[in-house]
Amino acid sequence: MSALSELYEEIRCCQRCEIAQYRTNVVPGEGAEDADIMFIGEAPGWHEDQLGRPFVGPAGQFLDELLALINLKREQVYIANVIKCRPLGNRDPLPQEMLNCRPWLDRQIELIRPEIIVTLGRYSMALFFPQKSISKIHGAAEKRDGIIYYAMYHPAAALHQQSLREIIKADMLKIPELLAQAKGMPEVKQEPSPKQLNMFEV
Ligand code: URA
Repeated sequence: MSALSELYEEIRCCQRCEIAQYRTNVVPGEGAEDADIMFIGEAPGWHEDQLGRPFVGPAGQFLDELLALINLKREQVYIANVIKCRPLGNRDPLPQEMLNCRPWLDRQIELIRPEIIVTLGRYSMALFFPQKSISKIHGAAEKRDGIIYYAMYHPAAALHQQSLREIIKADMLKIPELLAQAKGMPEVKQEPSPKQLNMFEV
């Protein structure tokens, strides 16, 4: 059993948040264990909770389309979420839920050690680009500790706001170039602490 599969077993037993009681399935994440690109979404929705897999509903269909634009299939990347259980009624994740789930995400990142982490939406962005605004930093990348962090709008945003569709596609199309430049990209100095969630009152 791989270290990642062992981690999934631990995550499946997690009861740190109240929403754990209501889940059908935990949604730890899935994809290539040696992926160069890791996408981090927000939280499982109804479809994901039913199947125990990330991004399998309408937002996931658009994510698959976006991956196809850069000639990738979801099996070739890694896909996870900030929190691993579905918030009731698809509400936004709570700050405490994000904190409770953070060690699982950190461990996934440690094990996969991707070249690039793509944050999907503002909750995921808030973990790695605290106090930034998605409308300002989408499509921008920063390298810290050997990993490029790259912020994108959430694919679901395009389902509600058609005008974002082309913006999201354009941001996705920049990823191959970022990967090609990964080794030579200069590091930025300041790294947000793992507990820094400045966008939210914790
Ligand atoms: N939205 C997310 O952020 N994650 C999923 O897995 C599905 C929808």
